[in-house]
Amino acid sequence: MLDILYNRRSTRKFSDKRVDDEIIHQLLKAGLRSPSSKNSQPWEFVVVDDPELLSQLSVAKPHGACLLKHAPLAVVVAGDKTKSDVWIEDCSIASIILQLAAEALGLGSCWVQIHRRYHDDEQTANEFISNLLQIPNHLEVLSIVGIGYKAADRPPLSEKETDWRKVMRNSYKNAISVEK
Ligand SMILES: Cc1cc2nc3c(=O)[nH]c(=O)nc-3n(C[C@H](O)[C@H](O)[C@H](O)COP(=O)(O)O)c2cc1C
Repeated sequence: MLDILYNRRSTRKFSDKRVDDEIIHQLLKAGLRSPSSKNSQPWEFVVVDDPELLSQLSVAKPHGACLLKHAPLAVVVAGDKTKSDVWIEDCSIASIILQLAAEALGLGSCWVQIHRRYHDDEQTANEFISNLLQIPNHLEVLSIVGIGYKAADRPPLSEKETDWRKVMRNSYKNAISVEK
């Protein structure tokens, strides 16, 4: 786990290799077992592997979704707002669990933000995706996790990029000192 946490980077370029159903099953099993407030499990996942739909999802918003066009797989994470007042937190946790499970299964992934993003002047990214995938109104799309085998490895964040100034001990005024 620590190896994954220390080395994980977002993957936006994928190889052509498809992700087989057994791997997809393991991935979703981890997502479905994510922790949630009051165990309300407000998430629903739409697995997309149809290239035409992936291409449509890649234009759900003007920037930051294009990686989906050449991804072999995407999981659309939608939250049931009637089940939880903290569906955003719950669905965010499920999204990162899917990303970490993908990494453990030898895959790369990238989060595509949908909540509070717009398709264009008239339509939210959520409305665009809900129309495309026939997602009912009581659900709202939080994210899309693009998944596939990595086209290339990316180096992990360095020690220099690990900002220990963000950590305090006991009082905000006390910087943490870390023995190495
Ligand atoms: C809430 C959230 C929203 C994100 N939205 C996008 C996005 O829309 N498009 C994208 O390419 N990456 C997106 N990312 C990935 C971040 O850009 C990425 O995690 C960040 O730059 C750090 O890089 P790393 O994941 O390689 O460490 C998002 C990540 C998070 C946590």
